[in-house]
Amino acid sequence: MANSSKINTPKHVGIIMDGNGRWAIKNSLKISEGHKKGVSIVKDIVEESVKQDLSSLTIYAFSTENWKRPKAEVTAIKKLVIDAINDQVPELKEQRVRLKFFGHTYDFGRKVIDKIDYAEQETHIKKSKLDLNVALGYGGKQDIVDITKKIASSVSAKQIKIEDINEKVIHNASSVPVEDIDLLIRTGGDKRISNFLLYQIAYAEIMFVDKYWPDFNRKDFLKCIDNFKKINRRFGKRK
Ligand code: IPE
Ligand code: IPE
Ligand code: MG
Repeated sequence: MANSSKINTPKHVGIIMDGNGRWAIKNSLKISEGHKKGVSIVKDIVEESVKQDLSSLTIYAFSTENWKRPKAEVTAIKKLVIDAINDQVPELKEQRVRLKFFGHTYDFGRKVIDKIDYAEQETHIKKSKLDLNVALGYGGKQDIVDITKKIASSVSAKQIKIEDINEKVIHNASSVPVEDIDLLIRTGGDKRISNFLLYQIAYAEIMFVDKYWPDFNRKDFLKCIDNFKKINRRFGKRK
């Protein structure tokens, strides 16, 4: 039956950008080249997100578990973060994109931390066109541990009462800048969450794309958005 009600457009999109390593191997390149290509794709998807009028795009760049990777790969990723900020901040600023990093970013060392501070200050704007949130050294379980510690210490300091703990309090104590993700996309072909946003995907529509992240393009992104628009989001209601 045709639905005359307003079409849902996603406001908050999350992306698990997976497949850089396999893409590099497939193309006989070094793993770091895969990550480099992956960063260049982000630029396109950000531009398209601005065009599509999203409020926020939250991307998974490095998980708490990714620290278990070879040291050379981690070093290459750290360097890529710095290079990407140097490269992309002017354009992000022009597009009125506000950049925010979240997770245990302090584990990345002074050079990366300073660059992140610079990027966040440079792109800070009261009314942004798009918020680009980058999960770096982030794990959903770690975030829940951090949230619990924060709220428990506020309770023991008598700053809040146990009965006042609610979803808003949990959101405020979280390092994640967005409350609810509407659409979550994972590339790379695997159907798992890999410790990305746990609390915030409670009602997300989840799409798994069978392409490595460096092969993902604007058309693929638009297809996900289009598919999202066709979904009847019930939120538990009879509707
Ligand atoms: C995702 O690509 C990027 C990071 C985890 C940093 P991968 O490096 O995980 O690529 P695959 O999954 O090995 O192909
Ligand atoms: C998820 O990919 C993390 C990022 C995309 C940053 P992984 O490659 O780390 O996830 P698993 O190991 O396949 O679950
Ligand atoms: Mg992977």
